[in-house]
Amino acid sequence: MSMVEDKKDAKTAKAGARRETPYPEHLVRETPPYRPGVMRVPVDRFFKQAYHDLEVERIWKKTWQWACREDEIPNVGDYVVYEIAELSFIVVRTAADEIKAYWNSCLHRGRRLCDFNGKRAEEFRCMFHGWAWNIDGTMKDMTCGWDFAGTRDEVTRLPEARTGTWGGFVFINPDPDCESLEDFLGELPDHYEGAGHDFAKRWAQVHVVADIACNWKVAQEAFLEAWHVNFTHPQMVRTPGDRASTGMRWDDFGNWMRNTPQLPTDKYKNPPGYATAAETEQQVVDQRWGFHLNEDPPIKVPEGEKANEVIKNVIREYHRSVLGDAIDDYHDVHMGGGEMVHIWPNMHPWGGFSRLLYRFRPYKSDPNRSLMDVVLMAPWPEDRPRPPPAPPHVLQPGQSIGDAPELGQLARIFQQDLANMPFVQIGLKTSRQGYVILSDHNEAPVRHWHDLYNKAMGFENGDYLAEESNK
Ligand code: FES
Ligand SMILES: [Fe+2]
Repeated sequence: MSMVEDKKDAKTAKAGARRETPYPEHLVRETPPYRPGVMRVPVDRFFKQAYHDLEVERIWKKTWQWACREDEIPNVGDYVVYEIAELSFIVVRTAADEIKAYWNSCLHRGRRLCDFNGKRAEEFRCMFHGWAWNIDGTMKDMTCGWDFAGTRDEVTRLPEARTGTWGGFVFINPDPDCESLEDFLGELPDHYEGAGHDFAKRWAQVHVVADIACNWKVAQEAFLEAWHVNFTHPQMVRTPGDRASTGMRWDDFGNWMRNTPQLPTDKYKNPPGYATAAETEQQVVDQRWGFHLNEDPPIKVPEGEKANEVIKNVIREYHRSVLGDAIDDYHDVHMGGGEMVHIWPNMHPWGGFSRLLYRFRPYKSDPNRSLMDVVLMAPWPEDRPRPPPAPPHVLQPGQSIGDAPELGQLARIFQQDLANMPFVQIGLKTSRQGYVILSDHNEAPVRHWHDLYNKAMGFENGDYLAEESNK
C-alpha cells in the first residue's frame, strides 16, 4: 500500500523486459458468497462489562493469538510480557528452537512475576517473597519452603499456555486442550510464504500502539471493511481502473478471511463502478501516494502514460532495490497493494507486498478502552542480517496517531479512522434501536467475524446477554 517516502529513486521507473509470471494461484481460490444477507448485532457487546468478562473466559483463554515476534526474543532467556485484557503471560525463549509461555502470576500469593520485557533471564523471581522458577518453568527457589508443608508439588511448575509460530510470529493459546496452531491457521501459510511473502523474512520496521477510547471490537471493525474509505478517507477515492472500480471479493477460509481483486469469472463482487471517482491518470496515482492534498504529488504521471502501469512499475522497481531480480518472479497483481486479511480474533496481516499489520486488544478490564498495534513489516534482503524489530511507540490515552510520524502518510489515514471511534462508542450507548446493521457484501467480513464471535461466546441460539435480541 504505501512506501512513498522510500521510493524517490524509483519515480515513474519503467519495467524492463520481464518474463511472464502466472496469476497467483492462491488469489484464484474463491469461497464466497459468505452466508448472504444483512445481519443485526446487539449494541450491548460493545460496552457492557458482562461481555468483556465472558470474552476473557471464552475468547482470550481459549484462542490462538499473536503474542510477539520471534525477533523480539532472539536469545535464550529473552522474554516478552504479553498482556490481553487483564491476563498476562511471560513468553520466553527457553532454547534456540523452543519458546514457552507462562501465566504471569506467582504461585504463592499471586503477584505478577514479570512487570517488563527482559533479556537473558536465568530465572523468574517474585518481587514479593522471593519464590523463583527457572526459565523452563521448574521451581528453583521456594523461600521458607519449610513453612509450606505439603504444597511443594503444587508449585513445582509454572502453569503454561501452549505456543506455536508462523511467519516469525509467536502465538499462544492458554487452553491446554486447544487444536494445533497449524490446524487453526489452515491454508493461510499457502497465501504468504507459499506465495513469496514470508513474514519470517521481513522485519518490523515501525511499531505504533494507539490507546483508543472505544471497545476493541469497535476499533477493529473500522479495519474489517473498506467501504468507509468513500466517506472517511475521501482523498483516497480515486481507484485504479482495473482494480476496485471493477470490484473486489471476500473469501472465507474459516478462522480467517481476505479480500482480493476480483476476476472476471467471480460470482460475488462489487458492482462495476464501485468507488470510482478518478477523472485523470494523475488522480489515480494520487489515490496511492498523494494523500496530502496541500502538497505536490510525489509521483507524477508522464504525459501519455497509464496510471496503473506507473503504479505497478514504481512498486516493482522499489522492491527490486530490496529483493533484486527476484521481484520478476511476482505477477503484477502482487504490486496492487495487498489483500486485506483478518485472522480470528484480532490479527490483521495484509497480504502481498503491503507492509500493514494490525492487532486490536481490550485494555485491561475496561470495555471502553482498547489498544491498536500498527506494525509495518518490511521486506529485507535475504543475504543481509535483519535489523532488530522496532520497539513499540506507545501513545498516550487519546493521543492522536498523527503523533507517530514514522507511519508516514498512513498517520493521516489512521487519524481519520480513529477520530471516529470515541464517537461510535458514545453513539452505541445511546442507540434507541439497540443493534447495528451489517451489509451483505461490503460488510461481509464484519458479519463473518460476528458469526465466529457468536460461536465462541455460546450465542449461536441468540445473544442471551443482550437486552435487544438479534432480530
Ligand atoms: S507472592 Fe510471590 S513470593 Fe509471595
Ligand atoms: Fe480506514
